[in-house]
Amino acid sequence: MTAQILDGNRLAQKLRADFGRRAEALAARGKRPGLAVILVGEDAASQVYVRNKVNACAQAGFHSEKIAYPPDVAPQVVLARIAELNADPTIHGILVQLPLPRHFDSDAVLEAISPAKDVDGFHAENVGALMQGHPRFIPCTPYGIMKLLDEAGIDLKGKEAVVLGRSNIVGKPMAMLLMQASATVTVCHSQTRDLASHTRRADVLVAALGKARFVTAEMVRPGAVVIDVGINRLPDGKLCGDVDYAAVSEVAAAITPVPGGVGPMTITMLLANTLEAAEREATR
Ligand code: GUN
Repeated sequence: MTAQILDGNRLAQKLRADFGRRAEALAARGKRPGLAVILVGEDAASQVYVRNKVNACAQAGFHSEKIAYPPDVAPQVVLARIAELNADPTIHGILVQLPLPRHFDSDAVLEAISPAKDVDGFHAENVGALMQGHPRFIPCTPYGIMKLLDEAGIDLKGKEAVVLGRSNIVGKPMAMLLMQASATVTVCHSQTRDLASHTRRADVLVAALGKARFVTAEMVRPGAVVIDVGINRLPDGKLCGDVDYAAVSEVAAAITPVPGGVGPMTITMLLANTLEAAEREATR
């Protein structure tokens, strides 16, 4: 079997064309969607992610501001800037790129963002709303994965879904969304015993653990749908996911490539959330 490729680039392009049209409609009324992205420090991967987010905004006709601070900035400085952005009518979405340096209380920073502008969906109020089943902002990576599954016509009702990783950014909200779609969900993590016994039961397997090519063909049920959230750099400089793509694509029914699978969908759903925030504000 050679798996169907779940093409994130193609779906992202389709969705972004629609977002561009909606952004222009708002701009014509003087309400162009605006995103502020805060970056603290010099983490190389974070710099790339932030640049990609700002570029995606420009391409879709959104206003964006990149606000960069040195690694030793005082947290009060960042908190004061967030308070200004909360009150800025040209900004509809505020994102603080994670991870923050160790002298920051990340939760306190995320809680300082107005829940109405929290386009990452990381504020406790928005996490609670997602858990209660009426989300205001869905975290971008799991949201993008749900869109990819939907686009491919994959019905989750009654399916066994296994999520590898329990982060607040991916694993936990992913589990919540799969549960809401009526899958039976298992969340595995670094302390899970006999991981393969879980992964081999999965109709849908989501790998978000950050270990290069961790998921091998032997861990995958023939005919499973495999979603690879990992972005790992190999010693030769190439990117690879958390899944051994070449081997697993011979076993799975469908699989996301790295790059070109989940990655472009994450940024696309950031645009979706920012646009939605702007549309909500415009109709208030
Ligand atoms: N760091 C890694 N992924 C993300 C994300 O989705 N949002 C933010 N803010 N930081 C991240």
